[in-house]
This record gives sequence, C-alpha cells and structure tokens, in this order.
Amino acid sequence: MAYQSYVLVCGGTACCSSGGDKVVAEFKRILAEQKLDETVQVVTTGCLGFCEQGPIVKILPQGTFYVQVKPEDVKEIVAEHLVKGRVVQRLCYDPEQAKKLVAEANIPFYQKQYRIVLRNCGVIDPEKIEDYIARDGYKAIEKVLFEMTPEQVVEEILKSGLRGRGGAGFPTGMKWKFAMQQPKGQKYMVCNADEGDPGAYMDRSTLEGDPHSVLEAMTIAGYAIGASKGFIYIRAEYPLAIRRLEVAIEQAHDLGLLGKDILGSGFDFDIELRFGAGAFVCGEETALLQSIEGNRGMPRPRPPFPAVKGLWGRPTVINNVETLANIPVIINKGADWFNKIGTATTKGTKVFALTGKVNNSGLIEVPMGTTLREIIFDIGGGIRGGHQFKAAQTGGSTPRSTTSRSPRSARSWALAASS
Ligand SMILES: Cc1cc2nc3c(=O)[nH]c(=O)nc-3n(C[C@H](O)[C@H](O)[C@H](O)COP(=O)(O)O)c2cc1C
Ligand code: FES
Repeated sequence: MAYQSYVLVCGGTACCSSGGDKVVAEFKRILAEQKLDETVQVVTTGCLGFCEQGPIVKILPQGTFYVQVKPEDVKEIVAEHLVKGRVVQRLCYDPEQAKKLVAEANIPFYQKQYRIVLRNCGVIDPEKIEDYIARDGYKAIEKVLFEMTPEQVVEEILKSGLRGRGGAGFPTGMKWKFAMQQPKGQKYMVCNADEGDPGAYMDRSTLEGDPHSVLEAMTIAGYAIGASKGFIYIRAEYPLAIRRLEVAIEQAHDLGLLGKDILGSGFDFDIELRFGAGAFVCGEETALLQSIEGNRGMPRPRPPFPAVKGLWGRPTVINNVETLANIPVIINKGADWFNKIGTATTKGTKVFALTGKVNNSGLIEVPMGTTLREIIFDIGGGIRGGHQFKAAQTGGSTPRSTTSRSPRSARSWALAASS
C-alpha cells in the first residue's frame, strides 16, 4: 500500500527512555481514531543521531523534523501537519529562538555528516526485513554468492582500504585473507559488539537501527573465509539491540538468507548470539574468544592470531560492528567508490558518540579526516553557555590525536569547557 505520509518516530534507546514509545502509541491511536491510518504510516526507526533533542519525529515526504515531542503534542501534529499541511513551528528545532529549522537538511548538526554505516538508521523499521531489502538490503550477499569467488570478495575489501573500527585499525581485507588462506575445515566469523568504551554507543545504535546490515556483512565474511558459523558477542546491557538482532536473525532464516543453502547457493551460514557481562577486557579479541568458549575472559599473547588459531583453536575472524556495517555498501557500490571517501591512509567514515559540554550531543558520522574543530563547532554547535573550548578527550584506552591514525582512538568524544 502506498501511503501519503510517513511518521518516523525514533525508537532508539535514548528516545525510548524519554517517552518515544508513548509517542508512537499516541500516533497510532489518534490516526486509527480519525481513520487516517490507511493514508499515514507510523514507522518506529532506529536512532536519528540527535538524541539530545529526543524524542524525534520526522514526517515524510516533507522531511519535517520535530524535536522533544511529547504524547500530548501528537494531536496537534496530526491536526495541523497531517490534515492541514501546516508545520507545527513550536516543535521545530530552534537553538536561538529565532529561525525555526524545519527540515533535517537545514539543521547544522546534520550538514557535515556523511552516512554510510548509519545509512538506514532513522530511515527504516529495524524490525522489518522488507524495509532493509527495499534499501538494497541482501543485494550484496546475492552478488557475492552468485557472481564472486571468495578470493574476489577479499580482493574487493582489500582494495576498498577499509580498516577495522574497533581497535588497531587493521586492514579488514588482510584479516579476511589470512583466514581464507588457512586450510579448509571449521572456521568462525565473530562480530565484536561488546562496546566497552565509556560514553560510546555507536555499535549499539547501529544494531538497534539496522541489525540486518551486520547479519548480511557477517554472511559475506563467512563466505569469503570459508566459515559456516558466526557469533555476535554483545553485552547483556543492550537489551533493545539484542531483541532487534533476535528478530532479524529469525526473519533472515524465514527468507532463506541465513541457515542451510542460502538463496539456493549451496552455502551454509548461521549466526548465534553470545552475551557479555560488561567486563571491559572482554572487548579485547582474545579475551572475547575465551568468553565465548565459556572460560574466564583473559587476553592471551599473539601470535598465534585468531585468523590462524581462534575459537576452539580454529581460524576465526573478529570484526567490530561498525567495520561490518560498511561491508554490504562496499560490495554494492564497489571498492573504488569507498576508496574516494576519507584520507590517504584511512578510507570511509567514522561514527562518533559526541558527548559532554557541547550544544549538540548525539551520534554523528563524518568522513575520516574531519577535524576536531568541525566536529565540536560545526556539528556540535560549540561549547554550551558560550564558554571557551578547553579540552576534548577521545575514547578508548590508547587515545591518539587525530581521527585518521587510529579509528579506535576517536570512538567517542568527551568535551570540557572552561567555565
Ligand atoms: C582492552 C581492549 C578492549 C577492547 N574493546 C573493544 C570493544 O569493545 N569493541 C571492539 O570492537 N573492539 C574492541 N577492542 C579491539 C578488539 O581487540 C579487536 O581489535 C577488534 O574487535 C577487531 O575488529 P576490527 O578489525 O573490525 O576493528 C578492544 C581492545 C582492547 C585491547
Ligand atoms: S535515540 Fe533517538 S535520536 Fe538517538
């Protein structure tokens, strides 16, 4: 059914905790009551990024962006916007109490962003596989299974220049190549969704808003390295992400996109979830593997690297959530396309959880090489209360100074301002 309008309500953790689910319920109730539910569809999405201003409601096709929406505002949005076509100005983003910024595209927070990893977050209903498919979802796995050899897949990822977003920035294609070159037999593909850095929530939001992108990427990796089994190691404190992954895995199974003989290709691949109990050290890959095996999460010296000797002594690739979310796009659009984004040494984008004393905090995605100044002042809107910038702290245990040297060094930003 083609709807005339779509009401996208953010269903990310931050918006839910500030009442987003009640806003969804109120829209559904009022639209049904007024018999508008056949022309207006309510979609619960993942995080739109501007968490601080939540609950966020976006109305399509106009792209109108409402902030801090409460259940009591819904009646007015329906009556004014959806029935009469008039924007409810008082609910638009208005930092200076002067010009109401009506559409997302006009809001400075979004203007320097470039979304690859978060391409579907805030756009699709993460609990509907059809929404993901409608935005080219599972097209990459089809291409890989029917048009590419494992060697070609690895070559494409190598050529793209993608480097791991969870740790040392190791070239993803190289890691896959090591595992692919190991003798045939049981191999494993693991997704690291432990996300232990304080203040970081990039991986959680990606899984909450677009779980299928990670499932599809893991299946592509499984095909490339010759693994038939995957594990997602996710912290138990992420109940919404876990629920959405469980729904996504079931839906992928139902459509023959996971399990035996995927899409009739003869390739088998399945994914199971494993829950972490919040130990920071279990985000480290060798400790994580110990934990999946049911042992105490203790790092072990490398070599041997997991790609050679990992889970239960078998070749294993471990990739971070954000690294993986890039994979389907790289396969669909090509390594040459990806390679043009970013800096000479680090390609693509980086997602940051921008927190602290900035005016606009939230989840952002920018091309690699974007400066701290742009992040803090253009996207973050500068320091709260007009104070002078004093310091910025990058997340992770081994911070360095620029976004281009080590992706992990800039997983989240905490800012301080002089008072
Ligand atoms: C103490 C410690 C904690 C780590 N925590 C995480 C984490 O929470 N998430 C993550 O993806 N990688 C974490 N890493 C990095 C992983 O060991 C590993 O390098 C990464 O998952 C590999 O994926 P990538 O190549 O896609 O980046 C941590 C590393 C160390 C040393
Ligand atoms: S959780 Fe709603 S905008 Fe981030």
